[in-house]
Amino acid sequence: MDNSDNHCDYQLPTSFKSSRQFQTRKKPDKFIKKIDITVKKLFHKQIEITNNNYELPNPNDMFSENTWSIDDLQKTKIKLNEIKNTLSDYNPAEWRNHTRKMNIAEHIRWRLKEDINPELFTQAWCKFYEIASTFPLIPEEVNHTKQLKTIHLCEAPGAFVTSLNHWLKTNVPYIKWNWRATTLNPYYEGNSLCSMINDDRFILHTLDCWYFGTDNTGDIMNIKNLDMLIDLEKDNSDKIMLITADGSVDCMDMPGEQETIVSHLHFCEVITALHLLSTNGTLLLKIFTFFECQTISLMYFLTCSFKKIIIKKPATSKPGNSEIYLICLSFRGREEIKSYLNILKKYYETGITLAMIRKNDIPHSFIEQIIECANYFKSFQCEEILNNMKLFETTDNNDFYLKRLKSAVTNYYIENFKLRKLPHDMEIVGAKILNQSYSTLYNKLTHDSYNERQKKINMTALERFSILQQKVEVSIVHNNYSFQVSIRTLLY
Ligand SMILES: C[S@@+](CC[C@H](N)C(=O)[O-])C[C@H]1O[C@@H](n2cnc3c(N)ncnc32)[C@H](O)[C@@H]1O
Repeated sequence: MDNSDNHCDYQLPTSFKSSRQFQTRKKPDKFIKKIDITVKKLFHKQIEITNNNYELPNPNDMFSENTWSIDDLQKTKIKLNEIKNTLSDYNPAEWRNHTRKMNIAEHIRWRLKEDINPELFTQAWCKFYEIASTFPLIPEEVNHTKQLKTIHLCEAPGAFVTSLNHWLKTNVPYIKWNWRATTLNPYYEGNSLCSMINDDRFILHTLDCWYFGTDNTGDIMNIKNLDMLIDLEKDNSDKIMLITADGSVDCMDMPGEQETIVSHLHFCEVITALHLLSTNGTLLLKIFTFFECQTISLMYFLTCSFKKIIIKKPATSKPGNSEIYLICLSFRGREEIKSYLNILKKYYETGITLAMIRKNDIPHSFIEQIIECANYFKSFQCEEILNNMKLFETTDNNDFYLKRLKSAVTNYYIENFKLRKLPHDMEIVGAKILNQSYSTLYNKLTHDSYNERQKKINMTALERFSILQQKVEVSIVHNNYSFQVSIRTLLY
């Protein structure tokens, strides 16, 4: 396994000595080294999985054994959850606010907003741009064909698409690009609001490019939707050279089991991608932790199906969460895995209860790499959480070092990823139009801590109402068949 700090094929940080801010300061030396090291570390949280000529097992041996576990990984899971659990009493809004202030990559967003004003600008936009600027997501052959088709799974509100557009137009403007995205349909009445992102501004303007399936739900876990998508793309002559899969579900009520909760969704995303991707194409897949049998099996399957796999925590991904991205480069092709696709599809809707791959079919050296990676990413996350807890009461947000660090991180991002403003006529919908319009969907941010939410689960409606009453005073005055409602205290 290669820790990519040692890689010279990816961009390494330039010295910050040349940046404007350091030239004007009188005594920069005290911090400059520390800042340089911290910035390098932040932008290089990545590990490449070495493929030691790994091979897939016999397809008939898959799904034939009970799930298994790896002791070392379970211990890491317990340690991580112990630290996460200490956050259970914090008010989520206050904690979010605090961690945002402490996040050294925080200023990237507002500098980009000010200087570049990207289209549909979100945290996801920054993450995708960082990944696209660091790894060869667009395969070399696209430079020759000058044609690119991409598919974006679980993509609402659509910032990966606008970020990719920005990257393509500023780096390879001669490439003719078209895209299709799928996601839970925000206009389908049956989809619960809490499973969707409350922003439909971009979707509304690009409906033709969104696929919501035969049942119109947009649910990627419905196999009929997969079959129809495969059919749609079969008639298309463009080669699909990049698939992104950024799916996640709300795990706020079971944060310790996030991996298991999203595992079925990730399984469906991978199977969809394997059915659609062209040979040599790239898959960018978001996952969380990889402590459990199904995730490890899926990662092993991907390692055998692609020539190169890198696990990356982008600098612009919130450091306190478990989110990481698998960058799977150079797909070996559908022909290579043909005999596996039908077997995988059998479990598409039901999900897997048996182990996808038997423990003995996964080489020991692969498991060792996974243990090392899991510990590597867990250490970053725990360090961040513990540090934020320590500073929760005493935050001095004007801290000189923190300010300079944030500025160095922002400069690094903008300079290394060569951010430039995109002319309006090259945008998909237009930042101006999107910034002016409002989402028509419901805001679902919660203000209760985890422990408060757990208490409410077992309460009667009356008990919940009395809590609400303590926060909101409602007086109803009967007056000629009309009601006057006055709210004294708003919920935060
Ligand atoms: C983190 S967001 C994706 C953000 C997106 N990449 C962007 O850049 O704007 C995760 C998305 O997964 C979608 N999702 C969750 N479960 C899904 C399912 N079963 N089928 C389709 N989409 C799903 C959610 O509705 C949400 O829009």
